[in-house]
Amino acid sequence: MYRIVKKRLLAQGIALLEVEAAAVAAKVEPGQFVIVRVDEVGERIPLTVMDFNREKGTITIVVQDVGYSSAIITQMNEGDEFQDFVGPLGVASEIEKYGTVVCIGGGLGIAPIHPIARGLKDAGNHVISVLGSRSADLLILEDEMRAVSNEVVIATNDGSAGVKGFVTDGLAKVLSDGHKVDAIWAIGPMIMMKAVVEYTRPLGLKTIVSMNPIMVDGTGMCGACRVSVGNETKFACVDGPEFDGHLVDFDLAMKRLAFYKDEENRAKARLEC
Ligand code: FES
Repeated sequence: MYRIVKKRLLAQGIALLEVEAAAVAAKVEPGQFVIVRVDEVGERIPLTVMDFNREKGTITIVVQDVGYSSAIITQMNEGDEFQDFVGPLGVASEIEKYGTVVCIGGGLGIAPIHPIARGLKDAGNHVISVLGSRSADLLILEDEMRAVSNEVVIATNDGSAGVKGFVTDGLAKVLSDGHKVDAIWAIGPMIMMKAVVEYTRPLGLKTIVSMNPIMVDGTGMCGACRVSVGNETKFACVDGPEFDGHLVDFDLAMKRLAFYKDEENRAKARLEC
């Protein structure tokens, strides 16, 4: 069993959980994910890793109450245990020295961008993080991101913090400030990642995205997580989750993601009754 040793509410419906999982913590690298299950009959939930501590043997995940199972996880408390905590899964980020790198995290996507920004900074890059949310009260992990970045730009849709607009407006600010950018990581809702790659494509800026399709087994067997990348079918769980954003068919990925939305909403409504 995998015990929660720390819980912190980051914003309405968003919880940070530090979980004892020594075998995962020993091997995990930035960009990888875990699949958790609350109990024997629970759904398998893929979650990207926000942080890890090899000495303590812990993995930190951030979960938003957006569906039936994620709502159960956000209600768990310190001392509670996960039945399963499988990982690390997926291919690690290609951390190397690029020069100046922009790490874009939108909403919950700020959590997985955190270890990537830290890895890139440790590798000698100048890391500029662009953090986006709908409003200041929903912005998570700002202090943690400042600690692993050389510069931070904030963008909120309502202008309650930083630049008013979207993460693309934050990126535009970075570029208009005269930075020569060598690589970009963008993680967040698919619609956000699509907007970023459409922005960077004409500029020829290398842009890595982390795909978050529906996953079932996480081992490349079921095909649930397939995405089209450069007109080839890839499995996000074993070939990704990171891909060259300019090659991803986001329209198809978003169509597939919407497929189970009604069912998920019905399940969550049952939980709230
Ligand atoms: Fe089944 Fe990726 S989750 S193949």
